[in-house]
Amino acid sequence: MSEKVYNVVVLPGDGIGPEVTGEAARVLELVSQKAKDFKIKLQSQLFGGAAIDAAGKPLPEETIKACEAADAMLLGAVGGPKWGVGKVRPEQGLLALRVHFDLYANVRPALFPSQSLVKHSPLKEDIARGTDIIVVRELVKGLYIGERQEADLDTPGSTGEASDMMRYNKHDVERITRLAAYLALQSKPPKKLHSIDKANVLACSRLWRRVVTETVEREFSSQGVEVDHQLVDSAAMVMVSNPKKLNGIVLTENMFGDILSDESSVIPGSLGLLPSASLAGLPDGKSACKGLYEPIHGSAPDIAGQGIANPIGTILSAALLLRYSLGRPNEAEAVETAVRKVLDAQEDGGLGMRTKDLGGNAGSKEIGDKVLEVLETLL
Ligand code: NAI
Ligand code: MG
Repeated sequence: MSEKVYNVVVLPGDGIGPEVTGEAARVLELVSQKAKDFKIKLQSQLFGGAAIDAAGKPLPEETIKACEAADAMLLGAVGGPKWGVGKVRPEQGLLALRVHFDLYANVRPALFPSQSLVKHSPLKEDIARGTDIIVVRELVKGLYIGERQEADLDTPGSTGEASDMMRYNKHDVERITRLAAYLALQSKPPKKLHSIDKANVLACSRLWRRVVTETVEREFSSQGVEVDHQLVDSAAMVMVSNPKKLNGIVLTENMFGDILSDESSVIPGSLGLLPSASLAGLPDGKSACKGLYEPIHGSAPDIAGQGIANPIGTILSAALLLRYSLGRPNEAEAVETAVRKVLDAQEDGGLGMRTKDLGGNAGSKEIGDKVLEVLETLL
């Protein structure tokens, strides 16, 4: 039998992007080296500010072509003060990539990669401990994508009105619900779905609530998936006062998901720790699931080039890539275990290695080296 070859495009991007994707790429290379029945081929492409400098646009044709031919994409981060105010901005590349590949589901876990990190949480330890939330955010519809009218504030007599349109249809809500339910079913018993909306005000939310309820009842309740519904304002309070009440899958639309996923991501203590996946389909192995994987942080220009960025969020993004787009759950779990052992405090049986954002003094490469060393023993 010929061995399966997966193609992964690495988009290092700007700032600390190249430093953190460098470490995650080494992890994928080791997985490929040790695998018996598959190989991973990595290639780097220009993206973001780096692409604006080299080719005049944030998402050059050649990068799109390479991504079209790939099974998955691993991104560092884009942006920085150098391109901040220009007409052509690095972030436009990211939005274009999401829309081009219809990456409709943004999956963001907010959990502790190591329980030893709980004391770094801005929440009290007993409130933060045990938080285990995955935010599933609809990513290609809603207010951020709908028709927009900019205000005209300079023409005398103009009312100076601006508008942004929120639109959802049944299909949009059904497919994101199926994806959330699929993720819920990866645990036994299934994780609980918490659907978040503003159904007391918005028509889109009333559509959302009804379609989520009906889809879960029709397709997933016989498998034990349950859903409850909460209003976004009160969910935002619960997220910081008692986040464990939201343990499970938080399912929500684009703008609410943007806000709630950022809110939940501070619970584990550093932006540098957490991964994300943006998916174009169900990662159930039945058909290809193209995905874009990236840490949740930005390009951190304040620490770029110093070799001190925390690479864990990007390494864990590579683990999600293995799980969802390459269908390799065992290898994904091995990477997550290696990360946990490197981060776990020595009194908890780990190596207790931390980058500066977590109060330690290990560099990005040192962390990468240790993760590789431990991973080698697990594969
Ligand atoms: P940021 O996430 O880049 O940095 C916020 C703070 O967290 C900084 O003090 C930074 O040093 C620290 N930090 C972030 N990642 C870290 C890591 N891996 N290890 C250690 N410390 C880390 O957010 P900021 O400063 O608001 O944005 C900087 C640039 O990044 C902007 O141009 C922004 O537009 C862009 N950005 C890009 C994103 C993406 O590519 N998906 C997401 C968020 C921001
Ligand atoms: Mg955000």
